[in-house]
Amino acid sequence: METSQRIKKMREPALLKYYPIVNEAQKKGRKVYFLNIGQPDIKTPEGFLNSVNGIDQKVLSYQAPEGITELREAACGYYERLGLNYDINDLFVTNGGSEALLFTFIGICNAGDEILTAEPLYSIYKEMAAATDVNLVGFKTYAEDGFALPDESLIEAAITPRTKAILMTNPGNPTGKVFTKKEIEVMVKLALKHNLYLISDEVYREFVYDKQGYLSPAQYQELSQNFILIDSISKRYSACGARIGFIISKNKELMGQLKKLCQMRLAVSTVDQIGAISLLNLDEHFFDGILKEYTQRRKIVYDALQNIPGVICKEPRGAFYFMAKLPIKDASHFIEWMINDFDYQGETVLLSPANDFYLNPEDGADEVRIAYVLNGEDMRKGMSILKYGLEAYRLAFPEVCK
Ligand SMILES: Cc1ncc(COP(=O)(O)O)c(C=O)c1O
Repeated sequence: METSQRIKKMREPALLKYYPIVNEAQKKGRKVYFLNIGQPDIKTPEGFLNSVNGIDQKVLSYQAPEGITELREAACGYYERLGLNYDINDLFVTNGGSEALLFTFIGICNAGDEILTAEPLYSIYKEMAAATDVNLVGFKTYAEDGFALPDESLIEAAITPRTKAILMTNPGNPTGKVFTKKEIEVMVKLALKHNLYLISDEVYREFVYDKQGYLSPAQYQELSQNFILIDSISKRYSACGARIGFIISKNKELMGQLKKLCQMRLAVSTVDQIGAISLLNLDEHFFDGILKEYTQRRKIVYDALQNIPGVICKEPRGAFYFMAKLPIKDASHFIEWMINDFDYQGETVLLSPANDFYLNPEDGADEVRIAYVLNGEDMRKGMSILKYGLEAYRLAFPEVCK
C-alpha cells in the first residue's frame, strides 16, 4: 500500500534518531547527559499540579475548541504585562506551539506556497512544511557574526509571487540569536511592502540575556493585520509535557478561518489547560531567578567551549542553545561515536548534529547544537566529557579531523 508523497518527504528529526543507541549505551551502564534537546530540568511551578489536583469534575469533558476562557483571559493578562494589548478573540489555545505552527502553515498557505525563514532554523519547521506541501525558503545567517540578519536586499530577493510569509524565531533555536530593533524593522517593512504574513515564534521570549529587553513585531501597530504570534508555555514555565500553546493574531478573517482547525481537533486537554491558568497568572518576577540560572549555565558552556582547541562559537544572546563549530568533518559521526564507543569514567554526552537545522543536509556538517538545559554541575561535567571525547576522536580518526 502506498503512503502519501507528503509524509514520505518528512524525516525523523535527528533529535530523536539517536535514542535506540542511547538505550543500548544506558543498558551497558553508561550515563548519558542529554544536551541534545530543549527539555529543561527546572521544576515546573507548583501551581500547575496544585490546580490539576484540585480539579473537581465528575466528567473530564471537551472544552471549547478555542480554549478555556479563563486560560485565554490569563494569557491576555500575561501579554498586558508585556505591554501588548490582546483580547481573548485574538488568541486560541493550541496543543503546544507545535500545533500553533502547523495551523499557521495550513491556514495561510496553498500547496507549493513559500515561507521565508533564516537558516539555521528550528528543524521541525521542515517537517511541518513537508506535511503541508509548503516550500521553506531559507536565507543564511552565520555564527561568525552572531547570526545577524543578511542585508535587506538579499532577503527581498528571495521573495517570489508564491511567498506567503516570513517566519522568524526570536530568540532563535538553534542559534540563540535575539533580533535587534533594526532587524525586526527590516522584517516588518518587508512584510508590509510585499503584503506577507510575519510569523513570530517567540516560545523562548523570556530567555533574553544581558538586559537586552524584549522586542517583538507585535509592538508594531501597522503590522497588526499581517502578524501572527506563536507562543507556548513549554520552555518559559518548564512545562513541555503540558502541551499548551497559543496562536495569536488581530486579523479577524484569519482567526475566523483558524477556528475551523481548532474545531477539527475538537479541543485541547482540559487538565493541561486548567494547570496552565496558574502559570499564566504568575507575575513578571517569576522568571528572574530562572534567568539568573540560565545565565550561569551559558557562562559555564561558553568558558568550556573557549578552552577546547579548534571550537568556534559566539556567546548566544537568547534561548538556551549554543551552535558550535567543532574541529571535525562529520558531527553526526562524532555524536554516534560518543554514544557507542566513548565514555569518560562511565559517562558520555548526547549532542544534536547541526545539519538538521539547515534545509540542505550537507550544510552544518561540522557543527553541533548544545542545549544548556541541565544544572551547572552537570553542564560542567558534560563539557569536560565533550573535551575529552574530541581529544580521543582526534586520535582515533585523524583523517576526519581539522
Ligand atoms: C523554536 C520553537 N518553536 C516551537 C517549539 C514547539 O514547542 P511546543 O510544541 O512544546 O510548544 C519549539 C520546541 O522546541 C521550538 O524550539
